[in-house]
Amino acid sequence: TLAALTLAATAASVLATGIASAADPIVIKFSHVVAENTPKGLAANKFKELVAERMGDKVVVEVYPNSQLFGDDKVLEAMQLGDVQLAAPALSKFSRYTDELALYDLPFLFEDLDAVDRFQQSDKGQAMMESMKKKGLIGLGYLHNGMKQLSSSKPLRVPEDASGLKFRIMSSDVLEAQFEAVGATPLKKPFSEVFTLLQTKAIDGQENTWSNIYSKKFFEVQPYITESNHGLLDYLVVTSAEFWSGLPDDVRTELKAALDESVAYGNEIARSKADEDRQLIIESKRSEVIELTPEERAQWVQMMKPVWKKFEKEIGAELIDAAYAANQ
Ligand code: LMR
Repeated sequence: TLAALTLAATAASVLATGIASAADPIVIKFSHVVAENTPKGLAANKFKELVAERMGDKVVVEVYPNSQLFGDDKVLEAMQLGDVQLAAPALSKFSRYTDELALYDLPFLFEDLDAVDRFQQSDKGQAMMESMKKKGLIGLGYLHNGMKQLSSSKPLRVPEDASGLKFRIMSSDVLEAQFEAVGATPLKKPFSEVFTLLQTKAIDGQENTWSNIYSKKFFEVQPYITESNHGLLDYLVVTSAEFWSGLPDDVRTELKAALDESVAYGNEIARSKADEDRQLIIESKRSEVIELTPEERAQWVQMMKPVWKKFEKEIGAELIDAAYAANQ
């Protein structure tokens, strides 16, 4: 009711003065779930900084990290309702809005971030950002985190080691199938719950990047991390189509430029952070990093890759081929 009253009061004052839009800056709430010292956290803060510098009289960016405002299970609905204007959920978290983005969850699809970049910059990769337009969401850019590793309470060298263990996953059916393929039990849980689930041993393991394992301290409650690089954690910076198209043209253009710059900055950080945070975890001696032999890794590939076929219809065989070809 308070919100409704405030809204009514604002509307009344807009009508009365007719200049409220010139006087009040546009507020952009940017909600995310990770820590600030991460590729996404730093990109979001950079965007806030650039906007303040260049158009501070017209637009104010408020960044809410660490699931403070919304978790990724709620943020897209909140965006459709106009309660938040920017977010960058993992590509794994859009399955209620589009089938296409599930492509990025296929295990062992991309060899490295260079291949990811090549595919995302292609016409097909760019078109995917528009795949939720009908649902009122538009992608403004791809933001990287990095390749995922497997952390666990037990050492994982071959797929059988994961059999019977419980792993937290993001809300993706591809990731569910990936863990089922090795006889494990996947559980879809919000990012904000992962540390406690691991600490209390409600689950045995999880998959994430070096940056997330380090910044959320998963390594302190997981004695083993297998350097599997088996999948990708990447984000789509997303906004509401209604909000975006309602912006004055010059504001939208300037915001897009600042966002592009912030995303490029975050993508640079993603590359260095993976190495740095991996090193910090090793130096902590809290967790043992397990490197796989080529033979061991080949076993994971063999067990997990059939997942591709399972989702071929949903995602589109052509899209999968194009993405795989980006490895060159
Ligand atoms: C996760 O839920 O594990 C990730 O999506 C968190 C993030 O945004 O990096």
